[in-house]
Amino acid sequence: MKFLITGGAGYIGTNLANYLLLNNHQVVVLDNLELGNKSLVPQKAKLHINDLRNKKEVEKIFSESKIDAVFHLAAYSSVQESMKIPGKYFNNNIISTVNLLETMVKFNVKCLIFSSSAAVYGNPQKYSVNEECPLSPNNVYGQTKKIIEEMLDWYDRIYNIKFVSLRYFNAAGADYGVGEKRKNETHLIPLAIKTALKEKEYLTVFGNNYPTKDGTAIRDYVHITDISKAHLLSFNYLKKNEKSQIINLGSGLGKSVSEIVDLVKKINNSDFKIRIENRRSGDPIVLVANYFKAKKILGWEPERDIKEIIKSAYDWHKSQLQ
Ligand code: UFG
Repeated sequence: MKFLITGGAGYIGTNLANYLLLNNHQVVVLDNLELGNKSLVPQKAKLHINDLRNKKEVEKIFSESKIDAVFHLAAYSSVQESMKIPGKYFNNNIISTVNLLETMVKFNVKCLIFSSSAAVYGNPQKYSVNEECPLSPNNVYGQTKKIIEEMLDWYDRIYNIKFVSLRYFNAAGADYGVGEKRKNETHLIPLAIKTALKEKEYLTVFGNNYPTKDGTAIRDYVHITDISKAHLLSFNYLKKNEKSQIINLGSGLGKSVSEIVDLVKKINNSDFKIRIENRRSGDPIVLVANYFKAKKILGWEPERDIKEIIKSAYDWHKSQLQ
């Protein structure tokens, strides 16, 4: 099959490109390289450096290659930044998707796997959320993902574009020689590792007065290769079933910020400084997945636990120092 990955030079996109190539598929990547890394896109993938907001260029890609399905990952994805510059998120995330969907309609491509997010739930009432839980994003980033899921439903009803929207919880870890390499890192695991490796003097913990067991926020970390695997399973599902689905991707296990810090310290066998600051705007308290639907519909289960996630990320960061 020939797959288009939008945002295919990003952290998750490069892992997905490797995963699909290893499974004998052809990969076309579209990325504007604003946040992505050209050097991490596998050689075997065809890279188009362009912006999804540039509709003419997107159409060109579809006219050059017969695309079987699209994996739509391209988006701004910082919760923190979305609360400071909301227009940037509404503009890019929504308009890019409208252009992509319109192009899919024009070129009769009927299959889309979308990178959604647990951020659509906001602060759920239950400890672990299933896909039926009410959606109430508490940050602009999550709001853009909710709007896009609603758009996908309309493109399904009107144009019969079938989709699987994968609501990722916290993607982490490294594989295929690719890890989290961002110009401005904001994520907990890479920042804790950088602190352990003495690239940073201290790690900031945003809030220690949450109503949780140790006062720090709880997230559900899932390995990126497990996430990539779910993408291919989603495509295979749509080929057989032609029914759109919305599916959580998480491990089902919550880890607090303090627990992650302790695990990183243990893996590095060292201590490092922590500074407590105020809560980050838009941060949910607890986000943990119920992944029963992924198991039932896709036959998906996370294969790598939190220790493997942190170890793989740690080894990758260390390899970057040499
Ligand atoms: N945190 C710290 N210190 C840091 C960085 C993060 O205490 O230096 C805390 C955050 O406040 C949060 C937790 O660690 O409580 C996790 O933060 P991340 O920035 O690693 O990840 P987020 O949960 O904010 O967001 C990630 C993705 C989003 C996605 C969300 C879904 O970046 O795209 O997971 O759960 F929507």
